[in-house]
Amino acid sequence: MGQVKTRWYKDAVVYQIYPRSFCDSNGDGIGDLRGIISKLDYLKELGVTAVWLSPIYKSPNDDNGYDISDYRDIMDEFGTLEDFKELVKGLHDRGIKLVMDLVANHTSDEHEWFKQSRSSKDNPYRDYYIWRKGKGKNGKKPPNNWTSRFTGSAWEYDETTGEYYLHLFSKKQPDLNWDNPKVRKEIIDICNYWFEMGVDGFRCDVITFISKEPGLPDGKWNPVVVGDEHFVIGPRYHEYIHEVCTESWNKYDSMTVGEGQGITIHNAEEIVGEEREELDTIFTFEHQDADFYMHAIPRKFSLKKWKSVFSSWQKLPQNCWPTLFYENHDQPRAIPRYGKMEYRNEVAKMLAISIYFQKGTPYLYQGQEIGMTNFKLDPKDYKDIISTRVYNSAKKFFGPLGAAIAKWGLNKRARDLGRTPMQWTAGEYAGFSTVEPWMTINPNYKMINVEDSKKDENSVFNFYKKLIKFRLGNKIIIEGSYKDLMEKSSKIFAYERALGDERYVVISNYTDKVVKYKVPEEYKGKESKLIMSNYSSSSDTLKDGKLLPYEAVVYYVKG
Ligand code: NOJ
Repeated sequence: MGQVKTRWYKDAVVYQIYPRSFCDSNGDGIGDLRGIISKLDYLKELGVTAVWLSPIYKSPNDDNGYDISDYRDIMDEFGTLEDFKELVKGLHDRGIKLVMDLVANHTSDEHEWFKQSRSSKDNPYRDYYIWRKGKGKNGKKPPNNWTSRFTGSAWEYDETTGEYYLHLFSKKQPDLNWDNPKVRKEIIDICNYWFEMGVDGFRCDVITFISKEPGLPDGKWNPVVVGDEHFVIGPRYHEYIHEVCTESWNKYDSMTVGEGQGITIHNAEEIVGEEREELDTIFTFEHQDADFYMHAIPRKFSLKKWKSVFSSWQKLPQNCWPTLFYENHDQPRAIPRYGKMEYRNEVAKMLAISIYFQKGTPYLYQGQEIGMTNFKLDPKDYKDIISTRVYNSAKKFFGPLGAAIAKWGLNKRARDLGRTPMQWTAGEYAGFSTVEPWMTINPNYKMINVEDSKKDENSVFNFYKKLIKFRLGNKIIIEGSYKDLMEKSSKIFAYERALGDERYVVISNYTDKVVKYKVPEEYKGKESKLIMSNYSSSSDTLKDGKLLPYEAVVYYVKG
């Protein structure tokens, strides 16, 4: 206790594990903690320095663990607390830190607090959740028009006490009432409990939703979700986060990364300004063009928007630390979204160069390091609560045409696409399990898998290994200034990182065409050398030239 924060996350590479799909050690088709333990040397070899573990707590799995029924114990399918302790030790022995998922906006309806809360209006836990009388003559209309991120009303009527409870996600995920100091104390105690067990930080799930506007007013009409303006960074958000931070997070050498639903660059300083003692860092979704709940609506990629979001974060003052990611368990795989599949290897490496030479904490989502991709899911394979709901409602209300449109959208955007089992080998069940896994395996595992990638010098895996090694401890990348180059281009993302008289010039072609470029005047005549690229034919020095499809190059320039 009482350690000063070293802010180790500023020189880290974080690997996200979605435990259900990572590695199954006991042959039940579901990934588990001992499966992760068996892959620790793999993580070490890749070179990552921290792991973010999606939820492993007890849960009835309505939303794959994001519905917690006991914050202090492990989900049966994943293992035991003893396994967890072994995992922490195994990670720490290898110099890898552990960041847990903290799901504190809501619990499961099977959590003891909620069971108590729903049992009577005068139960001591009643005020742990948000209960309201219904509207209308017989009180059978929801208290306001807010909608759940998972479709439908955000309110559920409960027969026992004749009132509604709020759930911004599924009805099995009732929202906690953060206005109740006892709830905040519970969350603080939970964080401290895990810190004492050795964890090094938390990824805070939909944390920007915790403070709801008093009176819970109706929201403005919106085609996707209603009510956001009344709880995204609500009136007491800062006060509550500061309390948890000073009572828990800041007492340990920790890191926190919030999930910033609804947050844009304009909120950056108020959310992660270091002197505020709130969150250290935050994931925002502006560059993805979507908060995670828009999972059936495909959008066109705009390089201009992508560049402007990343570069705005780079230009913030040093006290606002950026988060660098483009895959996670709520997103489809990146490669098909940003490039053509016939250039899979080049696109994967180009994205890596283009994003991970920036300042910030980079995240790698399991499978990203071998260039895993999407595939066409059959509706019977949908496992995610959003996919099944969207598909079933479209089918119910609009018949076969509705079903076909939903399927088309989901094949591009479904969260399921990023949750298929990790492809370890070309063998049975992709080496993930010895039995049929809980979720369909991408059939391309025979070509894209860890075992083969390790052997192939030119693989995405070996490229990431090199990039991570290059990045860690590199002062130009960690501390250097940032400058946009070729700002107007809608094909090239180019920037400079500089520290003293040393610079990296990073140039990436985001198209499948050959693109010509001119070197900015300021670099002409300066000594330069190629330090990284995804083609063996890239020019050795920085000069006017052309980039092949999805070519990305990094030059070191002196002076
Ligand atoms: C964000 C998580 O990333 C997502 O997977 C989950 O469904 C929601 N929060 C609700 O907890």
